Amino acid sequence: MRCAESISVSSRGEFVVLLGPSGSGKSTLLNILGGLDVPTSGDVSYRDHLLTRATEAELTRYRREHVGFVFQFYNLIPSLTARENVALVTDIAERPMTPEAALAMVGLTERLDHFPAQLSGGEQQRVAIARAIAKCPDVLLSDEPTGALDVTTGIVVLEALARVNRELRSSTVVITHNAAIAAMADRVVRLGDGRVTSEQVNASKVDPRTLAW
Ligand SMILES: Nc1ncnc2c1ncn2[C@@H]1O[C@H](COP(=O)(O)OP(=O)(O)O)[C@@H](O)[C@H]1O
Ligand SMILES: [Mg+2]
Repeated sequence: MRCAESISVSSRGEFVVLLGPSGSGKSTLLNILGGLDVPTSGDVSYRDHLLTRATEAELTRYRREHVGFVFQFYNLIPSLTARENVALVTDIAERPMTPEAALAMVGLTERLDHFPAQLSGGEQQRVAIARAIAKCPDVLLSDEPTGALDVTTGIVVLEALARVNRELRSSTVVITHNAAIAAMADRVVRLGDGRVTSEQVNASKVDPRTLAW
């Protein structure tokens, strides 16, 4: 089983790349979008909910039920297998995929019972993606997911994100300071010095396998 097809909003399934140099405010913006932080001014809404007016309990519910996070350094539990790391999320989610289905989506069916130390960096990142998507999130947020990886491995991770975006229709935001990655986005938002400096909609997006940097 995958995710229930329950909602459709106009921006459902958009793939956004957030580009900008170090210190430009990318992580801050992503954390605000994910309900981990609140802005000092301005509004952020999720469907008809104003996150900037939400209580702590409402933000916790938003994060838990609707948002999947992927970070640069995987943050897997070393003493748990790939399957068990994903099960941590599926155990508390409302309508989750099975850990096996989530790991299959990122191409790790052969690695279910491996511990993080037995996996490559790219495989560990794909376990982190499986963990983030197992709850079928409406919003998938990823902060420098390829930052610690070589090009070939990074592209495999980007392919996994593109596949999830396409098949689960999770609205996806990927942060990077690598401009080459912008070509796989529907929309590219550039940040500089804490502000959005430009926004561009790509007429067509490329398969991550064609990227190089
Ligand atoms: N719009 C903003 N207003 C005020 N401070 C900001 C803003 N955006 C970022 N900052 C601050 O700038 C610093 C770097 O931001 P960060 O989000 O970590 O950048 P990046 O992820 O692009 O490297 C942080 O201390 C953050 O609090
Ligand atoms: Mg950052």
